[in-house]
Amino acid sequence: MSTTTSIHGMWSSRLMFILAATGSAVGLGNIWRFPYMTSDNGGGAFVLVYLACIALVGLPILMAEVLIGRHGRMSPINTLRNLARDSGTGRAWVGIGWIGIVAGILILSFYSVVAGWTLHYAWRYLKQLFGGAGITDPGATFSALLADPLELTFWHALFMLLTVAVVAMGVEKGLERAVRFLMPALFLLLLALVGYGLSTGYMGQAISFLFRPDWSEIDGNVFLRAMGQAFFSLSLGMCTMMTYGAYLPREGVSIPRVGIAVALTDTAVALLAGMAIFPIVLSFGLDPAGGGPGLIFTSLPLAFAAMSIGALYGLLFFGLLSVAAWTSSISLLEPATAFLVEKFGVKRRKVAALSMAGLCWLLGLLSVLSLNVWSHVRIFGRDIMGFIELVANDIMLPLGGLMIALFTGWVLNRTLLREQLSDMPEALFTTWRWLLRVVAPLLVLVVLVRALA
Ligand code: PFF
Repeated sequence: MSTTTSIHGMWSSRLMFILAATGSAVGLGNIWRFPYMTSDNGGGAFVLVYLACIALVGLPILMAEVLIGRHGRMSPINTLRNLARDSGTGRAWVGIGWIGIVAGILILSFYSVVAGWTLHYAWRYLKQLFGGAGITDPGATFSALLADPLELTFWHALFMLLTVAVVAMGVEKGLERAVRFLMPALFLLLLALVGYGLSTGYMGQAISFLFRPDWSEIDGNVFLRAMGQAFFSLSLGMCTMMTYGAYLPREGVSIPRVGIAVALTDTAVALLAGMAIFPIVLSFGLDPAGGGPGLIFTSLPLAFAAMSIGALYGLLFFGLLSVAAWTSSISLLEPATAFLVEKFGVKRRKVAALSMAGLCWLLGLLSVLSLNVWSHVRIFGRDIMGFIELVANDIMLPLGGLMIALFTGWVLNRTLLREQLSDMPEALFTTWRWLLRVVAPLLVLVVLVRALA
């Protein structure tokens, strides 16, 4: 039998878990990364491969992570160690937890830098509301921001402080409060922007860019990026969902249902972001392809400048995006923090959360510098930030996910799985298990091998 509570605290209700897991999933990945990845990787073909990855690989692994977490009740490394021991297999599986911690640190390092951009934009619009100058040339504004290491470092530091403040307070006091109101507000604002997109008359073209596949654009690299994006967007492969699952009550919570709710919301937000951004890009005569990481920062301000209450829209949009990034970064920091608390018995508040955040902040300076002073440095053809992103998102997350799928599918016994998934009809259970045993691992493996070979 699994234990019923975790030493780190528990979600107060099923809804809180759904909000927190959705808060983790929905973030810069949906609104900043998904549109520009789509833009850079051929539009509709990328989107369709991405959706297939979510359905065949992402959702089954999401359920597996939550299930393992709820059974084990500890931080991923200790949960996996206990499970491997109880199942009589080797300790190599504990490596999943280590991949997770390293990937989390790498991802948070650049995530916080980009979240700093959104804070900076929210601040700009706030100043505009009070009479400051508006953003009239978004391209130049964005380039000026990236060229200024001190400015970037300031916002990166501020964002990391916000993150560590919540994680330090722990599950009930910190994480729950942050997600309750802000996620629904972001959703509504995105809908409003889609409404604006409709009014531009370019929605049809945007939809066809997003959904009409041009298969000639597809190569191994596009598959790798779509798979990486699916893992990144659903917060999978680095034991985040496992950690959140550890705080999930046993009674009255169906893992398949919450898994589907989180996956659907996450996908809906990404698609809505695409439907908000591409009509604007097209209506201002910009090329929807090849937008790069600056896409939302250079396109949306064009629309805000054209609206009568654009400054307010800008403030709300970048403010809420900062919040979405915040609820995700909290979940990036939580697994490593919980592990430090368990392993060394250190205080969550003063030691564990702070030292991990400090490490991520320092590493983030590499990304800051790669945007200006070290912009000439190339590793495998990418700048430093792009390289960290590639290694962590597109390689480590799928690799972690692959191992989680194999571990759940082949090592964990049926009784344990059934105990956690008692409400799942037999046919669906069997399908899910074979997706984990064969389909997901094969897809991830083929994509990794093809892209890296
Ligand atoms: N899912 C988040 C986003 O889409 O922005 C990013 C993320 C959070 C990735 C937590 C991984 C993770 F463990």
